[in-house]
Amino acid sequence: MDIRYIEENRLFVLETENTSYIMGIVDEEGFLGHFYYGDRIDPRDSSYVLNLIEPEYTPGTNGRDRSSFLDRFPFEYSGSNVGDYRNDSINITDHNGNGSVLLCYDSHEIFKGKKKLEGLPAAFGNENDTMSLEITLIDKIIGLKAVLSYSIFDGLDVIARSVRLENTSDYPIMLNKVMSMTMDMDNENYQLLTLYGSWARERMMDFRPIGYGDTLVESFRGESSHQFQPFMALVRNGDSQDTGKTYGFSFIYSGNFQAGVCRSQFDSLRLYMGICEKNFRWKLEKGKCFQAPEVILNYSPCGLGKMTRTFHDLFRNHLIRSPYKDKERPILINNWEATYFNFDSEKLLAIAKEAKKSGIEMLVMDDGWFGERNDDNSSLGDWYVNENKLKGGLKKLVDDINEIGLRFGIWMEPEMISPKSRLYEEHPDWAIQVEGRVPCRSRNQLVLDLTRQEVFEYVYDRIKDVLSSANIEYLKWDMNRQLTDLGSLWLDSDRKGELSHRYMLAVYDLQERLVTDFPDLLLENCSGGGARFDAGMLYYSPQIWCSDDTDAIERLKIQEGTALVFPLSTMGAHVSDCPNHTVGRTTPFNTRGDVALSGTFGYELDITGISRKDREAIKEQVENYHKFSDIYRNGDYYRLASYQRNHEFDAWMVVSKDKKRALLTCVQVVAAPNGKKRVLKLDGLDKNMDYRIADSNMRILGSTLKSAGLQIDMPAGDYQSKLIYLSSEE
Ligand code: DGJ
Repeated sequence: MDIRYIEENRLFVLETENTSYIMGIVDEEGFLGHFYYGDRIDPRDSSYVLNLIEPEYTPGTNGRDRSSFLDRFPFEYSGSNVGDYRNDSINITDHNGNGSVLLCYDSHEIFKGKKKLEGLPAAFGNENDTMSLEITLIDKIIGLKAVLSYSIFDGLDVIARSVRLENTSDYPIMLNKVMSMTMDMDNENYQLLTLYGSWARERMMDFRPIGYGDTLVESFRGESSHQFQPFMALVRNGDSQDTGKTYGFSFIYSGNFQAGVCRSQFDSLRLYMGICEKNFRWKLEKGKCFQAPEVILNYSPCGLGKMTRTFHDLFRNHLIRSPYKDKERPILINNWEATYFNFDSEKLLAIAKEAKKSGIEMLVMDDGWFGERNDDNSSLGDWYVNENKLKGGLKKLVDDINEIGLRFGIWMEPEMISPKSRLYEEHPDWAIQVEGRVPCRSRNQLVLDLTRQEVFEYVYDRIKDVLSSANIEYLKWDMNRQLTDLGSLWLDSDRKGELSHRYMLAVYDLQERLVTDFPDLLLENCSGGGARFDAGMLYYSPQIWCSDDTDAIERLKIQEGTALVFPLSTMGAHVSDCPNHTVGRTTPFNTRGDVALSGTFGYELDITGISRKDREAIKEQVENYHKFSDIYRNGDYYRLASYQRNHEFDAWMVVSKDKKRALLTCVQVVAAPNGKKRVLKLDGLDKNMDYRIADSNMRILGSTLKSAGLQIDMPAGDYQSKLIYLSSEE
C-alpha cells in the first residue's frame, strides 16, 4: 500500500494491494478531479489517466465555456450553484443568503496511521498498517475549507473517506447538505444493488438499472432503519459472486443517510453517500468544524464475493473494538419469545436451570423487568427493578443465576420514555416534540431528547446504576421506534435542523461512555429487530440483533443480505420455538440450529416447555458451536446458492483463514420431486489440499471440489438442512 503525490502532474495516487485510486489537480484554479478507481495501474502509467479527461475544456484555456467544464468535470468533491448541475456534494447558505460554493485545491498532507473522527465511529489503524491523505480544498469567497480524508489499510482493498468542513469566514455558514463522499465515474452499464426491508424482513437484496437522473436509497427516520441499509454497490454482472467489476460502499453511521447515483446527460455517474439532506441543517459558526461520517469504498474486480470478504475483514480488524471480537461469545438464552412480559424470578431461574443442563452459558432477561412494565404501554425511563417480578431485587436474581452456573445479561431501551411513567410525569418536556403539537406515539412511546445535557446525564446514570448493581456481563440496547416530531425545546430556531444528527452523536457518546466504563461488557445493539444494523453500531458493539424474525427460513434471506456486508460474528441469531411467532412456520429443530450457528448463536424459547428430543438436540448444537465458532467468527464467507433468488435452496460456506477447515451449510427450502440432484461447486478451498468430507472416508482435492463440485444428498422434505464439515487435518 502506498499514497503518493506526483508533483510533476499534480496527481494523487492511492494504491492498495490490488487497486489504484487517482485524483489530480487541474487548471490554475485548482479543480480537484477524480480520474480513476479500479484495478491497480502500474505506477509508471498513473499520469496516463490525465489524458483521459479533456483539458481543452478547462476554464484556464476556454473561459467562455466554463459551465460546460463544470457540468462534466469529474469532481472529487463538487461545489454547488456554480455551473455543475449534477447532484452536489455540498449545499450551503452563506450569511448573505447566497448558496454558491466552489472548492479548489489548497494543500495536502500524507501521513502514516489514521486520525480519529471526533464524536463519530470510524475505521481505525496504526502507523504500521494504515496510511492517510488529507487534501484541503478551499472556497476563498465564502471562507469555507473542506478537508477530504482518505485512509488505506495494509492487505485490504478498501479506502475510508470522510470530509471535515471548517468555517474560516467571519460569519456563520448554514450547511444544508454535506455528503461524506461523492465519486464521478464513467457508466459501464452498471446496476445498483441496495438492501431494502421492513420490520422482520430486513436487508433484502434489490438490483435495479441506473436510469438518467437520480437513483437512491435513504433514511430520514433518525436511524439507519429497517427500510434501507446505508450501503450500495455498483455491479456489472448482477449477483455474480466471482465475476464482474463491483464497487461497494458502506456508511459508518447509524442515523439518517442517503446513498445513490446520479446519471448525467453525458452518461457519467456521480455516486454519493452521506447524511440525508432531508431533516438536516447545521449552522457552522465562525472558526468551527463539522465532521461528516466516514464511508468505506470497496472495489472488487471479481464480483460480490470478494467485496463481501473485504468488508468482513475490514470490519473485524479495523472497526469492531470490543474485546469480544476475537473471543467465543457466550451461548445465551433470551427470555423474550419464551415469556414476553409475563415472567418472574422463579420462571427465569427455571429456564436457567434447564439451560445449564444443555450447556447454555448465559441468561438474558429481556423487556419487562422494571417500573410497572407488564406490556409495552408503560415505564420506559423508569429503570427501577419491579420487585413484584424479581423478588429480592436484581442482585439476588443475578447471584442466583450465577449460582446455577450461568452468566447474566439484561435488556434496556435507554433512549425512550413512556408517557405512562414516573419519568414522564416529572419531565414531560424531555421527549422530542414540536412545541404545541402532540407528539406522534409509536409502540406507545416517545423518544428522549438526548441532545439535552440533563437528559443525557439522567439516561447514562440509570444505565450505569443498573449495570453496577449486580454482576451483569451483557447488555441488549434496544430502540423500538423511529424519530418523528423533530422539534427541540432548547435549540434556537436556526439550529433545530441539527436535531437528528445531534441525537445520533449523543447516542454514540452514551455508548462510548458505556464501553469505557464497562470495558468487559458484551454489548448487543438492537432496534425493533435489525433497524440499526449498521457499521456505525459495530464500533461500539461486536454484535447486533439481526431481526425479530427468528424463523429459520425467513432468516436465510435476512442473513444473506446482512452477510453481504457484515461478518457472521456480528449477526445476532437465535434458535426459537415453533410454530414460529412471526410467520407461524414449523421447521425442524436442527435447521433452526444450523441457521443460527452462522450468527452469534443462542436460544430464544422456553426451554422448560420444549420436548426432550429438542433439549437433547441443544446439547449437540452447543457442541457444534464450540467446535466451529472460530471458523464462523474468523473465516472467509462464500455464498454458493441463494434461496432469495432461486426460491428453493440456500447454501453458503465458511473457510478458515488457513483453509484447513470449512463448513458448508445447505438448506432445502422446497423439496424437489423426482430426485433432483444437487451438486455444489465449493469455493474458497485450497486447491492443493485434500479435504475429508464430514464423517465419510472421502478425501477430495479442493480443486476438484471447485471444478466438479460436491453432491449434496438432502433429507426428504421441506425446510431440511445439512451442515457439512470439511477438514484437511482429520
Ligand atoms: C424488540 C427486540 O427486537 C426484541 O428482541 C425484544 O427485545 C423486544 N424489542 C422487547 O420489547
